[in-house]
Amino acid sequence: MLESSSANDLETLSAKLLESIAQAADLAALDQARVEAVGKKGALTQRMKMLGGMDPEARRAAGQALNLIKLEVEAAIATRQDELGRAALAARLAAERIDVTLPAAPEAEGHIHPISQTMEELIQIFAEMGFTVAEGPEIESDFNNFTALNIPPEHPARQMHDTFYLSPDADGAARVLRTHTSPVQVRTMLSQKPPIRIIAPGRTYRSDYDMTHTPMFHQVEGLVIDESTHMGHLRGCLTEFLRAFFQIDDLPLRFRPSFFPFTEPSAEVDIGCSRKGGQLKLGNHGDWLEILGCGMVHPKVLEMCGIDSTRYQGFAFGMGIERIAMLKYGIPDLRTFFEADTRWLKHYGFSFLDQPSLGLGLTR
Ligand code: PHE
Repeated sequence: MLESSSANDLETLSAKLLESIAQAADLAALDQARVEAVGKKGALTQRMKMLGGMDPEARRAAGQALNLIKLEVEAAIATRQDELGRAALAARLAAERIDVTLPAAPEAEGHIHPISQTMEELIQIFAEMGFTVAEGPEIESDFNNFTALNIPPEHPARQMHDTFYLSPDADGAARVLRTHTSPVQVRTMLSQKPPIRIIAPGRTYRSDYDMTHTPMFHQVEGLVIDESTHMGHLRGCLTEFLRAFFQIDDLPLRFRPSFFPFTEPSAEVDIGCSRKGGQLKLGNHGDWLEILGCGMVHPKVLEMCGIDSTRYQGFAFGMGIERIAMLKYGIPDLRTFFEADTRWLKHYGFSFLDQPSLGLGLTR
């Protein structure tokens, strides 16, 4: 027993324990080394248990030596634990390192439909001219869509609208899918007092289908009512709008007399273009292209909407949003707008991030 606790033997043991602690490759190995040294059945623990059987002198010497070794071993374990912890952290930091300078992973980007884009553009322009946006339902009363607009039942103008008729409402009143956004004029005049300055963009429906007609399409209608609003204002407003929208400073406009039941006088507006070589090009090129309908609101319409026509007057205009989008963005077939083909949308759609500048300012 004395023999086994000899100074030599303890030195060898200490060296062995310290060696296995220093060599521990990870925390599990280190714990293993700790158990072998100072665990319940560890080498040092075993030796300490033997102290009881020694005579006092030898016990003191051996006890002191063992305690020293134990302290050394525990210090070594703490040091190694610290080293391994640091190494583990360093490895993790290296493995999880984020290179913020790398380009972002590509993500599929959606596109804004040309109709939404065009609506946004025209709203921006009219907003800068002081218009607000008014909306109404797509299922309309026959009264709002026709009668209040001076198109009584049996009026031939009804036939031109290829109307989708719905079953009457609970009160028996006839209903239609609105054939234009003009009923929003009616709703606005019935609910607001002049001065009125609104645009009404939205969906409209007519039973028609070919290269230039789809059963659902979009219109924007404008309405201005005040005490002294006249045709000069109408002309100025539309000139300003069309030049800003098409971004052509000298775009010529031509007002041709026309007929709408709800305006008097009425006009159709043409813009300058060229058709040379079968290519349509907008601008001051001598040829003309019809673009929209307009006129001074008929006194009968004002009266039917509760506005005193001896005091107030104003103008209205309406145009197809697809049509002006096709012209501005060179989209040849109207039907493609509604085919939900993502290749088409990718080609003709707009990026959320890369917006063309909007509003009146752009051509000034
Ligand atoms: N509502 C007419 C249409 O659908 C367009 C228009 C509006 C014409 C306002 C004149 C004034 O065809």
